[in-house]
Parts: sequence; C-alpha cells; structure tokens
Amino acid sequence: MSGHTMEEVAAASAAPKWFQLYGLGGKDGARQLVERARGLGYTALVVTVDTPIPGNRERDLHHGVTMPLRVTRETAARFAPQALVRPGWLYRFARDRFSMDLAMARGLGDPAAPMSIDEAVIAWVLNPVTWDDFGWLRESFGGPVLAKGVLSGADARRAVDAGATGVIVSNHGGRQLDGVPAALVGLDDVVREVGADVEVLMDGGVRRGSDVAKALAMGARAVLVGRPWAFGLAAAGEPGVERIIEILRTELDRTLRLLGVESVAVLGREHVAVPAAWGERPRAPRRRARRAAAAT
Ligand SMILES: Cc1cc2nc3c(=O)[nH]c(=O)nc-3n(C[C@H](O)[C@H](O)[C@H](O)COP(=O)(O)O)c2cc1C
Repeated sequence: MSGHTMEEVAAASAAPKWFQLYGLGGKDGARQLVERARGLGYTALVVTVDTPIPGNRERDLHHGVTMPLRVTRETAARFAPQALVRPGWLYRFARDRFSMDLAMARGLGDPAAPMSIDEAVIAWVLNPVTWDDFGWLRESFGGPVLAKGVLSGADARRAVDAGATGVIVSNHGGRQLDGVPAALVGLDDVVREVGADVEVLMDGGVRRGSDVAKALAMGARAVLVGRPWAFGLAAAGEPGVERIIEILRTELDRTLRLLGVESVAVLGREHVAVPAAWGERPRAPRRRARRAAAAT
C-alpha cells in the first residue's frame, strides 16, 4: 500500500529491509511482488493476515478518503484551508506531483496488458491470503516469512504449522475488526504457544520506550511501530522521523536504568505485572462443544 515502489525503497537504504505483502493483483500479482522482493534482497517477508478486506473506517468515509487515494475537487476544496496554512507541506506535495498512487499496485499482472491500480486492488480483495498460501510464499521467497495480525495462541500455532517462521501479534493498530483486544493482551497467549519455536513480534500502541520494555518483558523479541512515524513525518518531515527514533531509544534506555537492568536481553516477566485475566486462553468452540456434550 506504499506510495513508493520497493525498488525505490531498496535504492534509498542499505539497511536490512522487510517487504509486507498484500495480495495486490491477486495470487499472480502476489507472486510477482514476492519475486521482486527476493530479487532486490529484502531479508524478510511479512504477510498480513488480518485484512481480507479493509475495516469499516468511518472517519475515512467522513473525510472522503477512498481506495486508492485520490485528490478530487471535493477533497481539494475541503482540505484547502488546512493545506494553505502549511506551505511547506503543500510545496512538498506539489513536488511529488500531488501523487497518492499505490505505487506497488501499478503494472501487475500480464506484462502485455498490466492491471490498472483499481483492478489490482479488486483482485487483492477477491483473493484473500489463506493459511494454504504460506507454503508457496515461503518457497518462492526463500527467507523468513512472518504472519502479521494474529492475536491468539491458537492462530499463531496455525500460522506456524502452515509455514510461518515468525508471528507478529497485532490488531492492525485497531484499524480492522472493532472490539478485539489490545495486541499486548494477546501477546501472552501467543508467546506461551509458539514462543519456544519461532520469534514473536508485537505492534499496536507502542508510543513510549517503556511500552517497548513491557512488550519485551512479556516475551516479544521486538516491537514494530506504526503511527508514530507518521506523526513525526507530518510534524517535521525527515528530522521528525529521526526524532521519533531518538525519543523511543532514550526512553527505553531510561526505563532499563530505572528498572536496574543492563540490557533488553535481561528483561523478563518479573519486570511486568501482567493482569491474571490476560493469560486466560479464549476457549475454542470445539472444546466448548465437547464440554457441553460431556455434561449431557
Ligand atoms: C495509515 C496506516 C496505514 C497502514 N497500512 C498498513 C499496511 O499497508 N499493511 C499492514 O500490514 N499494516 C498497515 N497498518 C498497520 C500497521 O502496520 C501497524 O500494525 C499498526 O499501525 C500498529 O499500531 P500503531 O500505529 O499503534 O503503532 C497501517 C496503519 C496505519 C496507521
């Protein structure tokens, strides 16, 4: 869903890079994207499993945000008062030729007749990723494949059985199904179920270095951060993003020192008070049915 292609990102940074896959262009498009990521040396493939369709984001509807994003006469008129008082932002947006393309959705499918962006997005929604896809994804990518968007130990186990080499506990920053628990609540169950077999990462609501420390203490190997980058970028451009990293790092260091531990490797369950209810595993319908049968 990025505004820049993976080629542009690869050219811009020598650091290790991960590619997050949505099945833009359906299975054929996904295959093409995975092959491109592999060819460019991306080191891990993240397969988001909680977005077979986008959630019902009412605020997006209210603000006229559509997929793919486009500047229309209505949105331009509506946001003009905000844009005009931010000339720097407006200048940079104009420099980008007012583009809000889904850069990765462009040109997928048959090279002789590539799909339009709209067709690529429709093909994604019509062909949601399933557990069965992990086998071929792992084979074509040839490196670590992480399932992003699990919230329970049972789903994490299914992901690992299907071929995922890592899981990311996430509720998509609360942007998909309303009413799901916070990712941190699901982390406990996932770590207990698959923590000994694969690496478990977590995202959602990480805003402070102390949030990072809590997740690591509960058994996450690392955390991912979503909105703070966007906040930093919106506030101050590239230096804003750098500042976000600096804030998280400084706060994490401070938290470790206040806890009296010398490194994140030493963080453990003894450093967090996890509410007892968080460890309760949600009962699978199968088990409930068996118990009901036994009672009769
Ligand atoms: C504007 C926006 C766009 C996102 N796009 C994607 C996406 O394309 N793929 C994906 O797996 N997750 C996407 N996410 C979810 C993030 O990857 C991440 O799970 C979430 O933002 C973490 O929560 P946080 O924002 O509280 O840190 C998006 C989140 C936001 C806010």
